[in-house]
Amino acid sequence: MDYKSLSQKAIDAKKLSMPTYSKFRIGAALLTEGDKLYLGGNIESSSYSLTICAERTAVFKAISEGERKFKAIAIASDAENFISPCGACRQVMSDLCGDIDVIMLNSKGEQKIEKMSALLPYAFSDKDLK
Ligand code: THU
Repeated sequence: MDYKSLSQKAIDAKKLSMPTYSKFRIGAALLTEGDKLYLGGNIESSSYSLTICAERTAVFKAISEGERKFKAIAIASDAENFISPCGACRQVMSDLCGDIDVIMLNSKGEQKIEKMSALLPYAFSDKDLK
């Protein structure tokens, strides 16, 4: 799947979000090495801090289905600026997905692409636990 199609999947995934309190929809589309796709939306809780971001929804869905190797994740919102993954999601993506391409979209559907390692330099990782 090319990155244009992956980006469109992230835009479509906004429909999966449950932004009950913030009303801020985010969609994520995670592509595996084997070209499988996992979608996620942000899901909010009445106990606000228990909210889960779209990126982590997609990553945990994929990991819990046995996926271990990934190529890229695309992230979309309704905002004009390029959506940028939060710090918690950067840590989780760095740990579980490796140095994937992160495709950040704006509401016009334009893309900005960065490597995960550029978004989270000097990442804490499993190597630090040895
Ligand atoms: N959110 C995401 O889904 N991904 C991010 O990287 C940043 C924030 C969600 C969490 C919450 O539901 C809403 O956006 C507003 O913060």
